[in-house]
Amino acid sequence: MAAGRLAVSGLLTAVFASIFVSAAPIAKRNPYSFVLSNPYSDTIFELGNVSYLANTKHPKAVVSANCEPASSAVPITVIKTNESSISKDTLEGVIASYLEGDDVFSEDFLEGVYISSSVTASLDASAIEYLGSMNASFVFVDASISAEGISTISVQGAVDLPAGPYLASVGSGSVSFSTVYRLYRDVYRTFLFGAYDANDGEGNHNPLGVFLPKVPSRIYYWGDDRPLAGERVAIKDLYDVKGLQTSAGSQAWAYITPVSDGTAPSVQQILDLGGVVVGKQKLAQFASGANPWEWQDEHYPFNPRGDGWLTCSASSSGGGCSIAAYDWLDYAIGSDTGSSMRRPAAVSGTYGQRPSQGMMSLERVIPLGGATDTAGVFSRDPYKWIKFAKNWYAPQLHQEVSITGLSPLQVPDSDAFPKTILYPTDYLPLNNSAAEPILQDFIANMSRIFNMTVKEFNFTATVQNWTDPIASNLTTLTRATGVINSWTQWSVVAKPLITAWKALFDGRFPPIDPARRPGWIAFNESVYNQATYDAALQTKNLGVEWYERELQYSTPESCSESVMLYDIGTGGKPSYREESLNESPDASYLAVLPKTAKITGANICPIFGCADFTVPIGQVSYNSSVTLHEEMVPVTIGLVVKRGCDFVLYNMIERLADEGALRAVKAGRAAF
Ligand SMILES: *[C@@H]1O[C@H](CO)[C@@H](O)[C@H](O)[C@H]1NC(C)=O
Ligand SMILES: *[C@@H]1O[C@H](CO)[C@@H](O)[C@H](O)[C@H]1NC(C)=O
Ligand SMILES: *[C@@H]1O[C@H](CO)[C@@H](O)[C@H](O)[C@H]1NC(C)=O
Ligand SMILES: *[C@@H]1O[C@H](CO)[C@@H](O)[C@H](O)[C@H]1NC(C)=O
Ligand SMILES: *[C@@H]1O[C@H](CO)[C@@H](O)[C@H](O)[C@H]1NC(C)=O
Ligand SMILES: *[C@@H]1O[C@H](CO)[C@@H](O)[C@H](O)[C@H]1NC(C)=O
Ligand SMILES: *[C@@H]1O[C@H](CO)[C@@H](O)[C@H](O)[C@H]1NC(C)=O
Ligand SMILES: *[C@@H]1O[C@H](CO)[C@@H](O)[C@H](O)[C@H]1NC(C)=O
Ligand SMILES: *[C@@H]1O[C@H](CO)[C@@H](O)[C@H](O)[C@H]1NC(C)=O
Ligand SMILES: *[C@@H]1O[C@H](CO)[C@@H](O)[C@H](O)[C@H]1NC(C)=O
Ligand SMILES: *[C@@H]1O[C@H](CO)[C@@H](O)[C@H](O)[C@H]1NC(C)=O
Repeated sequence: MAAGRLAVSGLLTAVFASIFVSAAPIAKRNPYSFVLSNPYSDTIFELGNVSYLANTKHPKAVVSANCEPASSAVPITVIKTNESSISKDTLEGVIASYLEGDDVFSEDFLEGVYISSSVTASLDASAIEYLGSMNASFVFVDASISAEGISTISVQGAVDLPAGPYLASVGSGSVSFSTVYRLYRDVYRTFLFGAYDANDGEGNHNPLGVFLPKVPSRIYYWGDDRPLAGERVAIKDLYDVKGLQTSAGSQAWAYITPVSDGTAPSVQQILDLGGVVVGKQKLAQFASGANPWEWQDEHYPFNPRGDGWLTCSASSSGGGCSIAAYDWLDYAIGSDTGSSMRRPAAVSGTYGQRPSQGMMSLERVIPLGGATDTAGVFSRDPYKWIKFAKNWYAPQLHQEVSITGLSPLQVPDSDAFPKTILYPTDYLPLNNSAAEPILQDFIANMSRIFNMTVKEFNFTATVQNWTDPIASNLTTLTRATGVINSWTQWSVVAKPLITAWKALFDGRFPPIDPARRPGWIAFNESVYNQATYDAALQTKNLGVEWYERELQYSTPESCSESVMLYDIGTGGKPSYREESLNESPDASYLAVLPKTAKITGANICPIFGCADFTVPIGQVSYNSSVTLHEEMVPVTIGLVVKRGCDFVLYNMIERLADEGALRAVKAGRAAF
């Protein structure tokens, strides 16, 4: 941890040099106010109007100090420095950097201060006066720090404690420091519950009530150089996190399933990279498609964009809308079988991807289609999105060939960019004529930046023109995908749930959402079974081979010779969470099959294994049927490349961002 401390100092120094914030004179502090103990014996408390949770059951550190017990817990700030002479400027600068760089820390945490130094040091007169003016009840200092003119408590021995805010419990001869989490209100109801690291040495997370995601101080991670250190990540409630219930959006499933006794490797990778899991999010039940008005088991989340009454789309709906909603949240993890990352990204105006088939282990993730499921991440910022993706999709987490039924993945991280922009005339232009100029502008930019040629073509006609009778038959390929999507879920989820429920409740069928009920009741194992599944994998593999030979192929110069554009969203029209409002010609349902296409654009990559990234390119206005006011709806575009060319596409998106052709989106009503 020594290296960690070094990094902290480096960062703080840089902060001092670059911003001349000085902490304003400290106003009256809000006092510690205990609220309740949660079922895990951790403490929920308030400072003024802000709520926090402190992990008091398993404190971050317990240190020896010559102190007497205090009657109540103490909000305390850990300050780390290297200066041998610690002045008012030193302390004020650190506090200013905390206020600037963190949303958990506030001056209310200055009820106690713990000053730690890696060198022998003293507090000079200005520091003593400053500490005096703060009226801190407790000033802890390392034994190596001398202080005169103020009453301090000496801390014995080295302690592995990152800087930042804590809740201290001062005992006789020792003090414990508990990690604090700020509790945010989930205004848009995108979460099922918040969660936090139990710090129990066993890798558990604990849940905390609905609508209260919680985030730890960013300061804790300033000394941590892991790629995702301190980044706050929400998880679709399809992935196991040790200590938390996985529901897949079904109370019935949660009833028959124990709390997870392990963490999905995909989530473990995030934790290993320094990411912080802040809660589990809503999804369409069992990750299948469902319209907002079909949700029964969960209340449908809200989309912050436009009038606040737009769809969040299907299964990773909590994730996409939360990233569009909350600045305090950095990433949300979702999954995509048929559209479930891409469409939520489209309607929330955020970055989200369906990676190449096989990029991410889905062990301990509730499946829909074993060979069509993929894992993705939502972000507002292209650079942050790429950083996450490149670190997360590590080769050791690629899926086995036996799962995908496809060739082993090769994922070059190069600038072997495409030469051709494919513009499929059966899927484009965008439905809203006001949105198409935004796309044309984006295409002009891309073609200029990468010297690419735009080629219009008819996707349906091109595939149907292949000479292989199976690979060219989009009906056959769609049916094969349907078998894949049905059998895995049936054998791993539906059948066990129905069987268990019948046994528990006198032959009753489990209560599930209407989007799934008829299909599960009528499920026909002579149509969907392991043998038809295996045959479907072969069909799919054949389709992928033809696709990668005839349509999106590699050349010596390009990983994927082309990037294909299409729209998975509404083409710039609003799609409402309320069914009847979508009947208006100025609105649109989701997942509409374009008039002359054979399959939806969403279905292309689930069939052909390709990578399909949704990126926001602008916004257009609409007259809301709900607010009776003009509102903005995001315009996004899907970028499709050959399977395995994900990292090349990230590099391309990075260049587009460098050139200003793609930008970070804002949280809230409007993306731009
Ligand atoms: C302490 O000093 C070392 C050596 O100069 C430096 O590398 C490190 O970043 C400093 N750490 C802190 C916490 O100030
Ligand atoms: C410290 O105490 C003085 C005198 O009671 C008071 O004026 C000042 O506001 C207090 N400061 C804080 C931060 O509580
Ligand atoms: C909370 O209190 C602070 C000042 O103590 C105030 O600026 C802020 O507006 C309050 N927020 C809410 C939501 O009441
Ligand atoms: C752009 O691409 C064309 C071929 O499409 C080529 O002839 C030309 O040299 C390229 N220009 C640059 C600047 O690379
Ligand atoms: C694309 O090709 C299909 C199949 O030949 C045809 O039915 C459709 O009309 C074409 N669409 C366009 C926009 O050309
Ligand atoms: C279909 O294939 C023929 C023969 O290769 C070719 O001439 C024609 O252009 C192709 N049509 C389409 C729509 O790809
Ligand atoms: C595609 O396959 C379906 C189902 O097997 C079949 O009915 C249809 O005739 C085929 N289409 C073509 C163009 O061969
Ligand atoms: C199941 O599918 C088989 C084969 O298509 C069919 O013969 C059978 O009638 C179906 N069973 C039910 C209950 O629909
Ligand atoms: C385009 O918008 C119209 C009017 O809302 C709608 O009826 C149609 O289904 C939409 N088409 C597509 C492909 O989304
Ligand atoms: C919204 O309604 C106003 C007033 O009827 C109209 O002028 C405007 O063009 C409409 N905007 C859109 C995007 O439809
Ligand atoms: C390209 O992107 C820039 C932002 O860098 C933007 O100002 C410009 O309008 C875009 N369009 C074209 C056609 O270059």
